[in-house]
Amino acid sequence: VSRRLLFTGTFAAAASAVTGSFSEAAVADRPGRARRPGRGMALRAKPATVSLGGRKVATWTYDGMVPGPIIRATAGGVVRARLVNDLPAETTVHWHGIRIDPRMDGAPGYTQAPTKPGRAFDYVFKVPDPGTYFYHSHVGTQLDRGLYGPLVVADPHEPLGYDEEFVVLLDDWLDGVDGTPDDALRRLNSTTDHDDTLRSTLLGGVSAEIRHPFHLINGRMAEAPEVFNSRPGRVVRFRVINAAADTAYRVALGGHRMTVTHADGFPCGPATVDAFLIGMGERYDFVTRLGAGAFPLVALAEGKGARAFAIVRTTRTARRPSRDVKVPELERRLLAYADLRPRRADALPRPSRTVTVTLGMRPSGNEWTLNDRLAADPLRVRVEKGETIRIVMDNTSPMWHPMHLHGHTFQVRVGDRRGPRKDTVNIKPRERLSVDVECDNPGEWMFHCHNLYHQEQGMMGVLGYG
Ligand code: C2O
Ligand code: CU
Repeated sequence: VSRRLLFTGTFAAAASAVTGSFSEAAVADRPGRARRPGRGMALRAKPATVSLGGRKVATWTYDGMVPGPIIRATAGGVVRARLVNDLPAETTVHWHGIRIDPRMDGAPGYTQAPTKPGRAFDYVFKVPDPGTYFYHSHVGTQLDRGLYGPLVVADPHEPLGYDEEFVVLLDDWLDGVDGTPDDALRRLNSTTDHDDTLRSTLLGGVSAEIRHPFHLINGRMAEAPEVFNSRPGRVVRFRVINAAADTAYRVALGGHRMTVTHADGFPCGPATVDAFLIGMGERYDFVTRLGAGAFPLVALAEGKGARAFAIVRTTRTARRPSRDVKVPELERRLLAYADLRPRRADALPRPSRTVTVTLGMRPSGNEWTLNDRLAADPLRVRVEKGETIRIVMDNTSPMWHPMHLHGHTFQVRVGDRRGPRKDTVNIKPRERLSVDVECDNPGEWMFHCHNLYHQEQGMMGVLGYG
């Protein structure tokens, strides 16, 4: 696939001019290998047939790949990415977790009009903070078709010492395949109202034919897994991203403990654990010193009895673990938010007021709400620029909800003290959890559950200030 920059053409640049010098924004095909540093790149949203490792699926992609290319930038620099829409539907790109200019946030109907088929949109924005992020379509449930990819913002003064890094992108694959009759697949993949089909299938219980047969790491099924090659004794940084629409994962690396150093891209006091639970939209970075051999990297689909699987290999001759190998670390010490100590410099001011948001489920069982509102009339919270507010999220439903706020990194409360800075936080059934938000980035910001089916039903609101 040619990755020539596509900055010519008839498309009007919709983005307003951003001045200042551009830092590199590079693209890589595979984790750890950056290429083409330059002044910009094109991201082509298009239908394609991709291999998930042995199994081919027809779906929607960025640049014909699932996941999309790794976008690498450096904190303080600018990312320029031209979205070219070759899909038969409108689309946007959302830069999940970035403290971004609201006009570049990709929230359709709130901060930008979606880009029509055959048109393009220039995303040009500063990346103020280093960290592990991802990008995805923010239209309907398009993300779930494969329209997602990693965004890694390097720290020019990286304090963490490590020898190399790998990106681990988790996904629950929906468009497929096991148990799904071909004609149903074809129907799904050929119709532009795919999203509605998905929704009614999943929410209305219309049919059980569409499930999550595969759990993927970097777009690969457990049957033909991703292999991360390294050397014994190397200190490796893993950047783990959960891009799934409907699955939280329990992640462990067999034979190793993991030292978690970043939550949602933000540094935290290191916490050494055996495993962690990662909700949709969350990211964790961990470092570990690799032993000699071939080790299973497992992401257990929480509550689903299935797993995503990859191999970390440091000696060529080591026998590969099988995809259902027992990984005792999964049952040992699990990361808790309370383990993640914020750096002192990242403490937010005391909030001046509290906003309570109830995460609810309507009796129908397939409508999820914020303060009992549905998507047609979403919750709107007005705040003042400069204030710090506390959002208390009260989950009255029997499911957990990974709640995500655009454009900010809030501070999670653990008990009565300050916890980690994050932008997505998992709230367990019947649990109540608070986050403090410093309102220092004026705009209209979506605030929603990152379970896409909940978001689409109404578990989404707007935090706005000018
Ligand atoms: Cu990654 Cu509004 O979301
Ligand atoms: Cu939810």
